[in-house]
Amino acid sequence: MVDVVLGAFYGDEGKGKVIDYLSKDCKYAVRFSGGNNAGHSIEVDGKKFAFHLIPSGILNKNVKAILGNGVVIDPKVLIEEINNLKENGYPVDNLYISDKAHLILPYHIELDGMLEDIRGERKIGTTKRGIGPAYCDKFQRCGIRMEDFISEKFESYLRTNVENKNTILKAYGYDELSSDDIYNEYKEYAKILKPYICDTTTMLHKALKNNEKILCEGAQATLLDIDFGTYPYVTSSNPTIGGVSIGSGIGSKYIDNVYGVIKAYSSRVGEGPYVTELTDEVGDKIRELGHEYGTTTKRPRRCGWLDLVALNYAIMLNGITGIAMNHLDTIGKLDKIKVCVAYEVDGKREEFFSTNMDFLNKAKPIYEEFDGNFGDISNCKTYDELPDNAKKYIERIEEITNTKIKFLGTGAGREDIIVR
Ligand code: IMO
Ligand code: MG
Repeated sequence: MVDVVLGAFYGDEGKGKVIDYLSKDCKYAVRFSGGNNAGHSIEVDGKKFAFHLIPSGILNKNVKAILGNGVVIDPKVLIEEINNLKENGYPVDNLYISDKAHLILPYHIELDGMLEDIRGERKIGTTKRGIGPAYCDKFQRCGIRMEDFISEKFESYLRTNVENKNTILKAYGYDELSSDDIYNEYKEYAKILKPYICDTTTMLHKALKNNEKILCEGAQATLLDIDFGTYPYVTSSNPTIGGVSIGSGIGSKYIDNVYGVIKAYSSRVGEGPYVTELTDEVGDKIRELGHEYGTTTKRPRRCGWLDLVALNYAIMLNGITGIAMNHLDTIGKLDKIKVCVAYEVDGKREEFFSTNMDFLNKAKPIYEEFDGNFGDISNCKTYDELPDNAKKYIERIEEITNTKIKFLGTGAGREDIIVR
């Protein structure tokens, strides 16, 4: 009944492409965590769409796209996305926003920048979209939910919060914000978004009763999880499997397939450990070949080889039932490809991942090497058509992870996907 797509590494694995494919057979596409720190790009008929908030499933017009209660929403960004879709021929009459989702407001964005400045050696390299401070307010129970946003309460809730945040900003020498300015601007956004806001949990439960298929779209990724990632170099939500239930209201008993998305190599943006990172010209080459620059922040991504120690951790943690691997075409442009199969830590071989910082800082990758030069695979529509070198690479990964690679991305376009 419910399929889930999750990032298996540090984000930017190409989740949008897999989601776009799977949503063809779905009635609902649901975002359950994160906010506009995400950047999911899909190419349809030569046109590139970059979604930060709206579920990518919306490109299939029969799909109802839901922003679940676990998402934090910057209304300005959301309205821009809605307008962009409308300009491109999508009516956006199939978008539903949870009344329980929390708002990202200008003070969250200010505080995100301020906190990065004062964090010292624990600087994270956040996207500065206000994500962390918005989740902090949610847990501190002073957050403003969508249902408040469109009610009379919005003005007084907002003014109290701005006053409180201003004392913090002032204490650290940052400019204070005007609650008048924010209120006057945001009350207009509330009017625009009001028709989309509803009880999405009940909607999803009605769908489950009617046996309608639901796709849950992960943002961020396993190693960025606030609990199971490389803390403190993580995001402020749970992009792992538990986040699906918390952030949508769908109980775990309904979940069927869990697809973990990876690239045929790896990347990371922001600070934090990364065992298979390549800081040499091979890393630069992967970045150029794979266009590894942020969809959200335009930052060059750190690039490296695929890490099966980390992937096995993601598989265990999320109960991943199938892998989706993107950028097979990109990796196939190299002469030689490496894959990390274990770590060496204090002279010992380790096959289990740990988020312990000491462990990760000491870990050295142990690689297996493969022949690349796959040639042009853009016309391969089935697994059998792939060259032997590609098959050897794929099958060895399946062997070590004991998990089937169900989807293979062979290019940027919507149709560049092999399904097994
Ligand atoms: P998608 O959905 C890659 C990273 C940021 C930073 C850390 C914390 O496109 O895979 P935050 O702004 O969330 O407080 O930043 O998490 N990060 C991502 N990296 N892809 C993402 O999403 C990310 N979302 C957050 O770069 O290191
Ligand atoms: Mg991203």
